[in-house]
Amino acid sequence: METIYDILKAEHRQVADLTQQAMRDSSKESFLKIKAKLDPHMMGEEKLFYPLLEQKSELRELVNHAYEEHNEIRSVSSELESMDPSSSNWVSKLKELDETVSHHVEEEENKVFPEAQRVMSEDKAQQIAQQYLDFSKTFKQQHPMP
Ligand SMILES: [Fe+2]
Ligand SMILES: [Fe+2]
Repeated sequence: METIYDILKAEHRQVADLTQQAMRDSSKESFLKIKAKLDPHMMGEEKLFYPLLEQKSELRELVNHAYEEHNEIRSVSSELESMDPSSSNWVSKLKELDETVSHHVEEEENKVFPEAQRVMSEDKAQQIAQQYLDFSKTFKQQHPMP
């Protein structure tokens, strides 16, 4: 059965692919596809995954840092949302989003997930996966793509 790590990693790859596409075509539509993937991803992590890790005092700092990075990503993303793709700094802002996201993904996959695997059973990681998929489905129904 799939674990939460399998799902989150697969979504990280999808965001990277969508970002490559957005870099190629510089369209608002491509950016909105990234956002539609990122928003439920970060929210799901914050609602279902991070709280379990925070219970371990030794992981609290790592998780706090992850929340900060989510907020940075949200801030760059909301700037892009209000920008016109024809504006001169669209591409550089998109690059900033890519760098911010890539950095965070690297930290999750190389630091957060290994630590989580240390403190969380395989069973629990599968259980969270199911909850995450349910959450993600509901979120997407409530926030349809424009
Ligand atoms: Fe993630
Ligand atoms: Fe994250």
